[in-house]
This record gives sequence, structure tokens and C-alpha cells, in this order.
Amino acid sequence: MDVQVADWLALTVRWLHVIFGVAWIGTSFYFNWLNNQIRPVEDGPTPERVDGELWSVHGGHFYQVVKYKVAPERLPRTLHWFKYEAYFTWVSGFVLLCLVYYLEPTAFLVDSTVLALHPHVAIAIGVGTLLVGWVVYHLLCKSPLGRHPVPFAIVGFALMTGVAYGLSEVFGSRAAYIHVGALIGTLMAWNVFFVIIPNQKIVVDAMSKGEEPPAHLGAAASQRSLHNNYFTLPLLFIMVSNHYPMTFGHAQSWAILAGLSLVGAGVRHWFNLRGKGQNNVWILPVAAASMIGLALVSAPERHEYEGEVTFAMVRDIVERRCVECHSAQPTSELYPVAPQGIMFDEPQQIVDRAARIHNQVVVNQTMPLSNLTGITDEERAIVGAWFTRGASAE
Ligand code: HEC
Repeated sequence: MDVQVADWLALTVRWLHVIFGVAWIGTSFYFNWLNNQIRPVEDGPTPERVDGELWSVHGGHFYQVVKYKVAPERLPRTLHWFKYEAYFTWVSGFVLLCLVYYLEPTAFLVDSTVLALHPHVAIAIGVGTLLVGWVVYHLLCKSPLGRHPVPFAIVGFALMTGVAYGLSEVFGSRAAYIHVGALIGTLMAWNVFFVIIPNQKIVVDAMSKGEEPPAHLGAAASQRSLHNNYFTLPLLFIMVSNHYPMTFGHAQSWAILAGLSLVGAGVRHWFNLRGKGQNNVWILPVAAASMIGLALVSAPERHEYEGEVTFAMVRDIVERRCVECHSAQPTSELYPVAPQGIMFDEPQQIVDRAARIHNQVVVNQTMPLSNLTGITDEERAIVGAWFTRGASAE
């Protein structure tokens, strides 16, 4: 496909994916909040079937929500279900995965410095991870382990970290991260499609016939909802991880991902506790300290350059290592236009962006991208010395 067409298609699908995802996560956050804020009816006795109520004001209108212990006596004619947000998020996400990674597997999916996979094999591993991952997760949920949330979380986290490690050994690092995200998204959306909604349907049907619904269906649905709740924040990080090469580009990218996922799940736990009226004091400080810790341990090793440094040396490095992509006329096959509009054709363009260059080349060492142009440690050190000694154009 023409690169221009592919980019516009990807833009459209990504936009849709974000819109559906916001709608899904938004309703999920809202209902979590709602559940925690339901209080006894303020005026008069609480009707027998009612659990509590909630009053709110939004956009100039007042709303009263009533929560039932089990179900109302009669079902209303219109009952809203929340499911299409989840399905459309998954479908748009999968199409995006195909557009960005499977249509052009040599761009991001296959990285020959990691493993020289045949593109078809790489795609099979990608799709296979989602399918096998779901089957393993589904069986674990139904096994005795599924009834014990904490051991389940420990085993699940270990398995997921194993998947992240395994993928980082076969795919380009960016693709490895996104496939972990795609797997989590698949578990979440398929939980809704295969378990939560079908079980809710059976429960509602039984009730409308005046029968007692089977209790295990409700239990299975709440087990999956609980998992989805803890998956949310780690997944949101992976969705934006593309922008942070210091995470996926790190030599132990899977460990960085494991650390960030723990932070995300921990923060989610804090919200859940707070909803139950328990104010945990140490989770948020530990999460903040962990972010600082991750930033420190992930910092790449730096080399110092003692000799004299001139701008001509820096310009030469930029010409040999960067201009292939960052130019008005890039020669790179991957980037027909300069990434982020950043170009280094003129000396002034290099001087103006000295701080960003220093950050990408010396501090995070995420440029050149995947070090495709083979920059050396000494060249990084020269750029570092040039920047710290004033970044002059002399
Ligand atoms: C193979 C292509 C390629 C090469 C070679 C390359 N870059 Fe990049 N560069 C990219 C891409 C792609 C992005 C956009 C990354 C993103 O959107 O997250 C980028 C982004 C950047 C940014 C902006 C990131 C930011 O947030 O500040 C800077 C600065 C940069 N590159 C500098 C360099 C320097 C300096 C070199 C040479 C040492 C270099 N690049 C070599 C592809 C390349």
C-alpha cells in the first residue's frame, strides 16, 4: 500500500480506537465510582428491593440514580447495556495492529537485530499470542486458582511478564510492547463478549420469568470485571508507550514494562480501596517513588569525552547518523517524510534543537531509532561534550 494512504488510514483508525477506548474506560470508571457512592435513601424509608441512591448534578441538570439489591420487580421497557464500546475498541485496535504492524512487517514487527523472522511467521506469532493467551487465561479463570484473587494475580502477573519477555526476544521492541497491550485488550474485551454480557443476559432472562438466576454466573461475571478493573491502567500506558522509546527501547524492556504495570495496578488498587472508604497512605507515595526508581535504573550508561570538540565534528555525526531520516528529503525507506518534522539539513537546525538532540542521543539514547545507523559510544560522548560545553555553532 502507498505509504501516504496507509498513514491516513492508520490515523483514522487510531482516532476511532481512542474514541471507543475513552467511551469504554469512561463508562467503566463511572460505574466503579457509582457503585462506591451509593448511599441509603435520604428522605423516607428505603424500598425493600432498593440498595441505595445517588444524586448528582452535571451540565446544569439533576440526576437521581437508584441501585437495586438484585433487580427491580418489573423490568423496564428500555434497559441499556454497555458492551459496544468494548467491542468497537477491540475491533478498531485489531485493525490498527494489522495496519501498523502486519501490513508492513519489516517496519516495526520484525527486527533482524533481534531475530530474523519470516514476516508470515512473525504475524502468526502475533495473532497466536492473542489466541493462546486468551485460552490459557480462560482456563485459569475456571480452575480452582480463579477463586483466589491474590494468588491468581501473582500467577497472572508472572505469566504476563513471561509473555513480555518472550515477545521482546522475537519482535522489534515497539511491537513487543504493543502485543502485550493487544493481549490485555483482548482478554478485557473477550471477557465482556464471552462471559460478562452472556451471563448478564441469562440472569436478566431468568428474572423476567420470575426465576432465581444461577448464582455461579454472577460470580464469573464479577471475577472478570475485577480482572478488567486491574488491567485498565497498565493497558492505558501501553497504548501510549510508542511515544517513549526509553521504555520499549531499553535492553530489559520487559522488566520496565513489568515495573510500570505494577505501578498502574497499584494505583488502581488505591482507587478501589478509597471507594470502599479505606484510605491507604502508602500506595501512592510508593507508586511515585517507583516511577523515580524506574527512571534511575533505566538510564543508560554514559561515556565522557575528554578531547576537544568542534561543531564540525557534531555536524559530521549528525550527517552520517541522523539525516537519513531527519531531512527535507529523507533517504530512509521507513520515513518518506522527516519524523515529527525534525530536520537537520542546516547547521542552525542542529543548534536550535541541541537540548532535544542531547536528550535523545546521550541521556535516553533512543536516537538514532533502533540505532539503525550504527552510532558509536564515542560519537554519543562527543555530542554530550558539545552540549554540556555550550552547544556552540563554532
Ligand atoms: C531510522 C530513522 C531515524 C534516524 C536515523 C534518526 N531518527 Fe530521530 N526520530 C525518528 C522517528 C521515527 C522519530 C519519532 C519518534 C516518535 O514519534 O516517538 C524521531 C524523533 C526524533 C526526535 C524528537 C523526539 C523528541 O521527543 O524530542 C529527535 C530530537 C530526534 N529524533 C533526533 C535524532 C538524532 C539526533 C538522530 C541522529 C543521532 C536521529 N534522530 C536519527 C527516526 C530516526
